[in-house]
Order: sequence, then structure tokens, then C-alpha cells
Amino acid sequence: MTRLIGKPEEVARDHYMLRLDAGDAVSAPGQFVTIKPGEGTDPLLRRPFSLFDHHDGVIEIVVRVVGRGTGLISRAGGELDMLGPMGRGFSLERAGSALLVGGGVGCAPLNYLARALKGAGTRVTMLFGASSSGFVYCRDEFIRNSHDFHVTTDDGSEGRGGTVVSLMAELLAAEKYDRIYCCGPTVMMKKAVELAGPVPVEISVENYFGCGFGICAGCTIETTSGLKRACVHGPVFDGRSVILGSLG
Ligand SMILES: Cc1cc2nc3c(=O)[nH]c(=O)nc-3n(C[C@H](O)[C@H](O)[C@H](O)COP(=O)(O)OP(=O)(O)OC[C@H]3O[C@@H](n4cnc5c(N)ncnc54)[C@H](O)[C@@H]3O)c2cc1C
Ligand code: FES
Repeated sequence: MTRLIGKPEEVARDHYMLRLDAGDAVSAPGQFVTIKPGEGTDPLLRRPFSLFDHHDGVIEIVVRVVGRGTGLISRAGGELDMLGPMGRGFSLERAGSALLVGGGVGCAPLNYLARALKGAGTRVTMLFGASSSGFVYCRDEFIRNSHDFHVTTDDGSEGRGGTVVSLMAELLAAEKYDRIYCCGPTVMMKKAVELAGPVPVEISVENYFGCGFGICAGCTIETTSGLKRACVHGPVFDGRSVILGSLG
């Protein structure tokens, strides 16, 4: 069992930050943990969550409450049943500049990535897309970990009105980026990969997982090199290799 440090903290509407004692675990941006609220069978399966950050022996995750499992986890106290970190994360190749494009809770893994890239000398531009201002979380962390931070909201209540990919298109027309990283709803990632043109683009998929460690094949996705299990071959993939229609 893994110790929860403090209580889950509400960081935006329906979004909770959990801090977990990770001991001497090592991780990389883009990896995930799987979590159950307790040792019992409700829910039966652990739920996957990307690392929002990991430093000083503490793993941070942001949980958006969408159902029973995330509801129980957001109200947890004491200890949680956690496996990981695991999975294949983002490549951290040295680059002059990187554009990070996230949608909703899909922005979470981009915070850890932004911190790592900035620390390695890459100029980081972070775009956070949300439906409305109330769903924007952890602005201070994103601002600290990037050079430029922009919010877009579908209803115009914060930052630029409109979708995050429309701002991405404008920035790409005005500036050159060496690498693009993306995580969010499938429709958003599909558009982002199209807009990337020749620029290397990596995406983190968040499809349905079963076991989370390679046994059940419940997370299988189609790629240009055949079927892949997102939990062990990903969740981060070359954006152009994923048949995004297969994610549903
Ligand atoms: C690699 C990976 C990383 C993830 N990182 C995060 C994260 O950092 N923060 C976070 O809040 N969530 C993240 N998710 C999604 C999270 O795992 C699901 O929201 C969670 O498992 C839902 O559990 P539940 O019991 O609350 O919902 P359920 O009761 O199982 O389902 C409730 C509703 O949510 C939908 N749903 C469930 N799982 C998913 C999913 N994976 N994608 C889309 N819709 C889903 C169901 O269709 C249903 O409508 C990630 C998923 C993956 C695969
Ligand atoms: S979730 Fe079971 S193999 Fe990937």
C-alpha cells in the first residue's frame, strides 16, 4: 500500500491533486501509475493516471472525477493500492523549442514533461485547453515549468476563446518548433498531428485500460506497425504511427 500525503486537494471543478509517497521509485514524464482506493474489490481494477509530477520522493497526480473509481479515489485518505510508475514515456531529446498541447485532464502529463524539458534547456510553450475556466488547474505549476503558458477555453471564460488546436495553428504559422507533444481527447490529438506537418510529434493516448501491465490486451490500439498494447508499448507513441480512429 502507498501512503497518501495529506488529503486530496480540489484544484479545479471535479479535479483533485493527490500526493503519494513514492519512496525511491524512479519515473520519466509520460509514465503512469495505476491506483485502487483500497485493497478490496470495489472497484476490481486499478485505474490509470499520468504523473503530473514526481520529485523528492513524491508522485503527484491530478484525478478528474468521472465515475465510481475516480470518485472513491478523490475522497481517499491514508493509503492507496498503487502500481508503477510504468509505461513508455515521452522522448526527452534535446531540442531548441517544444510546443506542448493539452486538453483537459490530458494536460497533466505535460506538466512533468515541461519541467524536464525546461531543465534541459529547451524553450517550452505550453497550451492548456479547457471547456471553461473552472476546469483549469495548477496554473502556477504550468507557468513555473514553461517559458510561455497559454490557456484556451471553449466558452471564452479564460484566455483565448476557442479550441486549443486553433491557437496551436496560429502559433505554428508564426513560429518554428522543433518538437510537439500532445495529450487530450482523440479528436484534439488527431487535429494536432495533422497541424504538426513535418515536425516530430508525440502523443499520449488515454484509452481504456484493464490490467495496466500487459496481460489482458484490453488497451490494444492500431498503429502503422500493427496492434500495440498501450500500457506497455505506450502510452506515448509517435503521433503519426497511431491510427487515431481506433481509439474510439
Ligand atoms: C495512460 C492513461 C493515463 C490517464 N491519466 C489520467 C489522469 O492523469 N487523470 C485522470 O483524471 N484520468 C486519467 N486517465 C483516465 C482515467 O484512468 C479514467 O477516467 C478512470 O479510469 C475512470 O475510472 P472511473 O471508475 O471513475 O470511471 P468508470 O466508472 O470506469 O467510467 C465512468 C465514465 O468515464 C468513461 N471513461 C472511463 N475510463 C475512460 C478513459 N480512459 N477514457 C475516456 N473515458 C473513460 C466511461 O466511458 C464512463 O462514461 C488516464 C487513462 C490512461 C489510460
Ligand atoms: S491494460 Fe491489460 S494489456 Fe494493457
